[in-house]
Amino acid sequence: MKKIIDFIDEETAAAFASCGYDAKYAKTTLSNRPDLCEYQCNGALAAAKEYKKAPIQIAEEVAEKLSNHPMFSMAEAVRPGFLNFRISEAYLADYLEKMRQDTKYFGLERTKEPRRIMIDYGGPNVAKPLHIGHLRSAIIGESIKRIGRLMGHEMIGDVHLGDWGLQMGLIITELKERKPDLPYFDENYSGEYPLDAPFTISELEEIYPSASAKSKEDTAYKDLAMQATFELQNGRRGYQALLSHILNVSVTDLKRNYANLNVTFDLWKGESDAQPYIPDMVQKMKDEGYAYISEGALVVDVKEDTDTKEIPPCMILKSDGASLYNTTDLATIVWRMQDYNPDEIIYVVDKRQELYFTQVFRCAKKTKLVGEDTILKFHGFGTMNGKDGKPFKTREGGVMRLEHLVDEINEEMYQKIINNQTQMKDDEARKTAQIVALSAIKYGDLSNQAAKDYIFDIERFTSFEGNTGPYILYTIVRIKSILTKYKELGGSKDDAKILPAKSESEKSLMLELSRFGAAMESAFAETAPHKVCAYIYALSNALNHFYHETKILAEEDKAVQAGYICLLDLTKTILETCIDVLGFQAPERM
Ligand code: ARG
Repeated sequence: MKKIIDFIDEETAAAFASCGYDAKYAKTTLSNRPDLCEYQCNGALAAAKEYKKAPIQIAEEVAEKLSNHPMFSMAEAVRPGFLNFRISEAYLADYLEKMRQDTKYFGLERTKEPRRIMIDYGGPNVAKPLHIGHLRSAIIGESIKRIGRLMGHEMIGDVHLGDWGLQMGLIITELKERKPDLPYFDENYSGEYPLDAPFTISELEEIYPSASAKSKEDTAYKDLAMQATFELQNGRRGYQALLSHILNVSVTDLKRNYANLNVTFDLWKGESDAQPYIPDMVQKMKDEGYAYISEGALVVDVKEDTDTKEIPPCMILKSDGASLYNTTDLATIVWRMQDYNPDEIIYVVDKRQELYFTQVFRCAKKTKLVGEDTILKFHGFGTMNGKDGKPFKTREGGVMRLEHLVDEINEEMYQKIINNQTQMKDDEARKTAQIVALSAIKYGDLSNQAAKDYIFDIERFTSFEGNTGPYILYTIVRIKSILTKYKELGGSKDDAKILPAKSESEKSLMLELSRFGAAMESAFAETAPHKVCAYIYALSNALNHFYHETKILAEEDKAVQAGYICLLDLTKTILETCIDVLGFQAPERM
């Protein structure tokens, strides 16, 4: 369904043209003075120059043409040459009714040319617990994926596990010290290895940090770990078997953690999956003359004439021939293109990695790992800070584990809910607290522009008032409760429809509803979930304003009442659709 603003554009373009002016001047925007009008067009001001006429004269001619149009309740020319519009109540009601009949997409214009877009997000490291640095990537990436799907694109999420490198050698070395008799360490062992891992996730999470600490103090230990890494990467059987145990145990735990965040991935590929593609890729870069040796290392130049700052060459292999983070990311592009041939790959990663990705992307383009028209996009996010403005820490000043952060907010929410809902049973209160807490965390993050740092303010984020997730959920819950009461009173909206607005607040709500498609479209086009947040905040405010000004359940005219109910129902489903793309849900009550 076309957007209202597109219909206005069409009508004003026709009016400009029939008055003898170029239709290109007929561009309408949302009014920034809602007290004066709902939409406005400033084209007469620009046209005045070309036609050497007073802008007001042009505006008046155009307004005259539009004044009887059923779309507008007001189309007027205002000095010095603005065109101010108000949408007619009947037209708006009709438009919303059409949205309501589209029970899945509410008039959203989905794409006619679906693109295949891969999203690289999450990026957890195997054997290390998720910390809050991984939270933003998961939340933002998940939302971008869902917005893309709603718009009709094929979105493929890949977690891109950090499962390669010294951390694996460290775990193997420590395990060998603790349990030297395990068959994985016996080079002469040729039988099958046990199916069960020789450690649990809690052991694994303790083994890694202690190994890492030891390696910093003990160079001999570090050498052992490097040797183990080398042997693992060169295919030593026992170590490969240990790697799969580490991966299995870790991934099971990661999946549980991500499920609690309502985050899922289509692909659970990792850095290790890229390794087989490295030798051919490197050979090709050498053969085609892109890669050359500089100070012992193999590099590809990626600087460009228009650069304003120094972009160092992209290093492909270290002087000892070892591969790097870069090499893995490039080889990952190789399999992604080969197996999926995406139109675009979006990387949702900490913005401090921006220069690194500039190098990787340029190198991939230059060495033709991707074609000219494949888009590689870096979507960098800022740091999540504590109230002191420094990166978020535990009370003791340590790195906060994601699980602990979530537990803390669940608890805070639980207290609020049992204070609010004194009759709610404990298990419902716990469940509700989890649902609402997730909205607090996700909305708190997504309502900011991703690239900006933000302050994780638990008190503010969990508040039921203001620009917060719980406020949005509260609005949905409020509508649900009115709809239930209406039904209990015997009301039905079966053959009811949305009627023309009778009050200012009802019309504002209707205008907000009509902007759903525009909000979602721009959120997708600009990879900007915060636009969905801004939209539902405005919509919730409009709903609550309408609710406070209007007697809904006490309305005596049944047709009017049923019309209100249709309007509330549409508001509810649109809010639900929007929070779904943000990656959270609403409870029945709170
Ligand atoms: N594992 C990395 C980290 O924890 C993030 C990976 C980002 N994605 C990528 N393709 N490099 O910092």
